[in-house]
Amino acid sequence: MHGAAELTAEADLSALNSFGVRASAAWLARAGTEAQLLDALDRAAQWQLPVQVLGGGSNVLIVDDLDALVLLPQLRGIEWLGAAGNRTHVRAAAGENWHAFVAATLAAGAFGLENLALIPGHVGAAPIQNIGAYGVELAQFVVAVEAIDQRSGLACRIEARDCGFAYRDSLFKRPEGAHLLITAVEFALHSTPELVLGYAGVNEELYARGVDHPTPQAIFDAVVAIRQRKLPDPAVLGNAGSFFKNPWVPRQTAEDLKQRYPELPVYPANPGASKLAAGWLIDACGWRGHREGDAGVHQQHALVLVNHGHARGADILRLAQRIQADVEARFGVELEIEPRLLGMQ
Ligand code: EPU
Repeated sequence: MHGAAELTAEADLSALNSFGVRASAAWLARAGTEAQLLDALDRAAQWQLPVQVLGGGSNVLIVDDLDALVLLPQLRGIEWLGAAGNRTHVRAAAGENWHAFVAATLAAGAFGLENLALIPGHVGAAPIQNIGAYGVELAQFVVAVEAIDQRSGLACRIEARDCGFAYRDSLFKRPEGAHLLITAVEFALHSTPELVLGYAGVNEELYARGVDHPTPQAIFDAVVAIRQRKLPDPAVLGNAGSFFKNPWVPRQTAEDLKQRYPELPVYPANPGASKLAAGWLIDACGWRGHREGDAGVHQQHALVLVNHGHARGADILRLAQRIQADVEARFGVELEIEPRLLGMQ
């Protein structure tokens, strides 16, 4: 039936999360249309099960089996909405692959997302953590997010200013946005290139490639190369990218730490606060490459926790908590976990 979601009972989620941890869902629903999404929500209400939406599963850690209906929105489609001034508007459905979408925008002559190349996951998940990399954040390009309000089943549109975007954060990550099931995102991209080259690693990569006059495509290629070198491919080694946010601390705290540790990378955040490189702090505590059973810290980047094979979500969480305690004891800095933890009581 066209409007019925595809349902599986006691579904294995191992292949649906980029950490590759084993966990089950009471029910799994795949929905390729809005009618199927609504059908899945109806079923969950009938069965009195909470709904847990999963996009590409690349920014979650499933800590335990989920007594929930896990919903996979698989809506597809990229729609070009026209140009106004120097902006080209495009709407992408939640189930589109993020990286393929970025490549499609460049091919169509719409620019700005090139620094966000190769981020795993789906378009619909991108606003939740306000994905960012190499000097660019998704929020800079969002016009509005379209969603279904799970309480009423009605479609709604949240304008960018109401999305509560902040560093790796948004309304959709917080309890007050938990009822919103994202179905599409509308973007305003640049019709002519406006390159963001401030990030040292990108400049170095372009230089190493002999690029004198960078283009959006050259930045895209450079970012792909850097990410492939530094971050593990989830298809090979389970992970969810950065496991902690880069912490914000009062400026004075950052200055004191810098006195004691001159190599500590410190970035200005706002007039009163500075952002520290969590990867450096964890590395300095000696965790890079560390392994406890199959839960580990990536050899090339201490901010990335990995699953060497059969780690469970709880094993990875336990390792993360030991790292948090160590960084706090050594530097007095609290690290906040970045991916969403699912299955926590
Ligand atoms: N560093 C170390 N040791 C390490 C890792 C990093 O000393 O093991 C140092 C680096 O040398 C560098 C600094 O820490 O001086 C920052 O490292 P990097 O440039 O790799 O960036 P990051 O701050 O660790 C952030 C994002 C990444 C994003 C990159 C590039 C967060 C939480 N992470 O990482 O996003 O790709 O910048 O812009 O903000 C993600 O969110 O999943 C993600 C990968």
